[in-house]
Amino acid sequence: MRRKLLLGNWKMNKLASEAKEFALQSKALIQKAKENNVDMGVAPTYLSLQAVKENASKDMIVAAQNVHFKESGAFTGEVSIPMLKELGLDWVIIGHSERRTYDNETNEKCHLKMEALLANDMVPVYCVGETLAQFEAGQTKEVVKEQVEVGLRGLDLSKLSRLVVAYEPVWSIGTGKNASTEIAQDVCKFIRDVMRELLGDVADEIRILYGGSVKPENIRAYLSCPDVDGALVGGASLKIESYEGLLNNIL
Ligand code: PGA
Repeated sequence: MRRKLLLGNWKMNKLASEAKEFALQSKALIQKAKENNVDMGVAPTYLSLQAVKENASKDMIVAAQNVHFKESGAFTGEVSIPMLKELGLDWVIIGHSERRTYDNETNEKCHLKMEALLANDMVPVYCVGETLAQFEAGQTKEVVKEQVEVGLRGLDLSKLSRLVVAYEPVWSIGTGKNASTEIAQDVCKFIRDVMRELLGDVADEIRILYGGSVKPENIRAYLSCPDVDGALVGGASLKIESYEGLLNNIL
């Protein structure tokens, strides 16, 4: 049985003081999520991770938005896994489409990062999804298959049940243009089938999230799809009221 998961992606938003305030305000909500067997968390910027970790409920998932695969070295501007672990963090988003678009995050690079995270018993949230041009050209499954295969092939099978995959059609991120629930279910099931072929039965334990313009008003429909185990939410995770609405509307 896969537990439901709601993860907010704050992207480049919120000062550390604002992130701390949110963390404090979310305590009762995280308790409610736990009581209802829902895992819930946020991915703040690096500079806010510590403030959120220290002030949120211990049951809140606190995820970084990126990490380097090397432990240390001459990589100006980067942050390593030991640095995150020192703050008590276990979760990292990998391969978000904004990083693929603006920061040359390739499938191969995502693979190296996930390999390093699993070796450190951490949880990668691996984002995949097609662009608008690829969607319109009917290439969604081809693109997603390659992202899944290159990203996951050869990873340590004994640790893969902790992995989370997020299907985020790029054309639906921050645009208000939702993928229909039929598309979300069809592609999430396809991802599970590709993973089953590649990795075996562990595919049934891996949680798959849908992401892209998820709001309190539409979250229930996505989560009622059999292969959608949760949501990765950008804009609607920034205000505590709306973050609360996401949980309340799936209970
Ligand atoms: P959105 O972002 O919910 O604002 O569309 C989702 C994401 O980028 O993870």
